Amino acid sequence: MRVLTGIQASGKLHIGNYFGAMKPMIELQKENELFTFIANYHSLTTSTDASTLKQNTIDAAIDYLSLGLDPEKTTFWVQSDVPQVLELYWILSKFTSMGLLERAHSYKDKVAKGISANHALFSYPVLMAADILMPDAQIVPVGKDQIQHVEMTRDIAIKFNNEYGDIFVLPEHKVQEDVATIPGIDGQKMSKSYGNAIDLFMDEKALQKRCNKIISSSTPFGEPLDHEGDTIFALSSLFLDKRETLELQARYYSGKEGYGHFKKYLKELIWEELSEARERREYYLNHIDEVNDILAMGAKKTKIIANKKMEKVRIAIGL
Ligand code: ADP
Ligand code: TRP
Repeated sequence: MRVLTGIQASGKLHIGNYFGAMKPMIELQKENELFTFIANYHSLTTSTDASTLKQNTIDAAIDYLSLGLDPEKTTFWVQSDVPQVLELYWILSKFTSMGLLERAHSYKDKVAKGISANHALFSYPVLMAADILMPDAQIVPVGKDQIQHVEMTRDIAIKFNNEYGDIFVLPEHKVQEDVATIPGIDGQKMSKSYGNAIDLFMDEKALQKRCNKIISSSTPFGEPLDHEGDTIFALSSLFLDKRETLELQARYYSGKEGYGHFKKYLKELIWEELSEARERREYYLNHIDEVNDILAMGAKKTKIIANKKMEKVRIAIGL
């Protein structure tokens, strides 16, 4: 299957992003033809300064490569390096009714949050449709908030195909249903905007400090601890198999250890899980040229696909 994922680069990644988005995506490259790009044209809708956008783009590339995105298997590029997508975006705009865009939840939510509405924000789903339709993506893994955008992509493609023949593949969304919401240090959903995140790449001391900040119950040391609803337990179990989870549960009930021990244990689990990723990250941070070469290679491959597609589209519509 041809799978396409788009990444909005918006700063430091946390454990919630890792389990909710990155790990499942990296798994996908084992059995699919994966196309992944950093959606910097999309980020422009909310970006306010050039250096942050540029830095976030390269940081996201380094993070994904460090976490196991394999450039031998996966085509990986920066959206603006294949500007053909903007031509398609304009053409698709003609097949997008105003009503369709006016119904977009994501747009309405952003405006409700006080982000000033500009045309790019409004037409964002059309650019997303172009991203998806250009390389004939069959599957698009997304978070729940993005399902509607993939549905809109299908609507736009159907409208086009009805008039001009079967030019576009109709994509399906894929939602990671089994991934629970990962809690942050205060027990609420982990999110960079709530200030409760545990970032993926910290030094060991800072990571322990962050784990120490996790809020737990006030059960005194020496008494059995309840694992249910406990954030340290919930986070630890993400790294454990069934047997190990039961063992941890037993340690909670034994009363021999306190939260301090479990916070240390959680830090070890996180540190261990990311050891290879840290090594790769160190490498890429010192070899930025290689990162740029990987992205250039991905852009070159995507451009070939894009040019072929655009030739068909132009002929079909009479340009
Ligand atoms: P944030 O809330 O920190 O801004 P994003 O909205 O940028 O995170 O999310 C990027 C990806 O990570 C999305 O696919 C989202 O589903 C996933 N994700 C973010 N936070 C969590 C969480 N706490 N639990 C599970 N998945 C998450
Ligand atoms: N809109 C997506 C998000 O905010 C990012 C994105 C842009 C995307 N283009 C895409 C995702 C195409 C999948 C396919 O997360």
